[in-house]
Amino acid sequence: MTTQSDNRSVVRRSLLGAVPALAALSACRSSRPTPASPGPHPAEGQPGLAAGARQAGVDRPAQPQTHTLASVYGLPPDADPAPVLARLGSVVLELTGKARTALGTEAGDLTVTVGVGPRPVALARRSVPGGLDLPAFAREERTARAWGGDLLVQACASDPVATVLADARLAAALEAEGASRRWSQAGFRPPGGGAVRNLLGFPDGIENPCTPAEVEQEVWLPGPGPLAGGTVAVVRRLRIDVSGFLAQSDARQEEAIGRRKADGAPLSGGGPLDRLDLSAKSARGRYLVPVMAHARRANPNATGSGRMLRRGYSYHNGPEDQGLLFVSFQRRLRTFTATQRRLDDGDDLMRFVTATASGAFLVLPGFDAKRPLGAGFMAGQS
Ligand code: HEM
Repeated sequence: MTTQSDNRSVVRRSLLGAVPALAALSACRSSRPTPASPGPHPAEGQPGLAAGARQAGVDRPAQPQTHTLASVYGLPPDADPAPVLARLGSVVLELTGKARTALGTEAGDLTVTVGVGPRPVALARRSVPGGLDLPAFAREERTARAWGGDLLVQACASDPVATVLADARLAAALEAEGASRRWSQAGFRPPGGGAVRNLLGFPDGIENPCTPAEVEQEVWLPGPGPLAGGTVAVVRRLRIDVSGFLAQSDARQEEAIGRRKADGAPLSGGGPLDRLDLSAKSARGRYLVPVMAHARRANPNATGSGRMLRRGYSYHNGPEDQGLLFVSFQRRLRTFTATQRRLDDGDDLMRFVTATASGAFLVLPGFDAKRPLGAGFMAGQS
């Protein structure tokens, strides 16, 4: 009998066999750092990455840009989010729609992804299946400023200056509408496709929805309706005790992750692109992927949840505050919460991790000059 996981292996092998044709897609399968390729440069006047039925910065470009600057804003209690979103969307189009932007720098592969928190969703009299309210989890250092929020604005680009200039322009537009910045975080990832090394030196981002069908199924909210083309984003700043983790032997580090440090191959055997075999045991009857290994604990077979598209960035605010700006996109918040709960119950990596900022947002459907950001969504307002 052919099982679902057999089918997946066939897909994985056929993807590997078809690398040239699927270069962009297979990027998320590749665990070996690969040379950087320049981001796409939309021609003058073309909508480029910004406009469309879905926002950019989720699965477009397929290879995440090397830099990000994510900011979370609050709106005044009496604010009407509709005009704020329309203004924000027009600035996004201005910044990303042309080869050379009003910033005086090339737009290149700059993307800006906008999400709304629970309050604007409620004001629009809409509901997101499964909601946007994150429960309390273990190892959180909460501050009112860095928890929750009304608007997520994430700029990503190969050029870090472009993310900073774009963020400043977006902030000015939002502040003119009464919004105030609650927290922001810059992040980076090595150049190269697919999985790239994180601050612990491990390839990160190997196991992600990858084929168009997987991304469709796991990430994008289905239509018809005002949510079609949206997705649920979870953004968390996760401080890592990097020196504490690295003080362990390489073998212990690999047991904590469940994959080899050199190439990301599962401890259950096979190559970097093979899935974990959670049932594989040593001759002595011990699981080859240890029971508290992060990749086992987070594995969707173990959590019983759907799969999330992880598109995170490392950050470094100094030796005492460095880690992962965790960003995941999924259809349902439960995909994240069920996974996080399981990590809270035991995970040999999470012992070194503390959340210092957190929020869940609905990434609104795409927009363009004729259909302003949030138009179909905020129309639910009375
Ligand atoms: C500082 C925090 C974290 C670090 C450094 C980290 C690192 C990693 C690494 C190295 C892998 C194995 C390679 C891969 O498949 O990408 C992995 C897998 C994974 N992580 Fe994390 N992770 C962190 C936090 C989280 C959190 C908070 C979640 C979700 C709640 C999560 C969800 C996953 C998932 C779903 C997988 C794939 C598991 C599989 O199916 O094999 N991770 N992570």
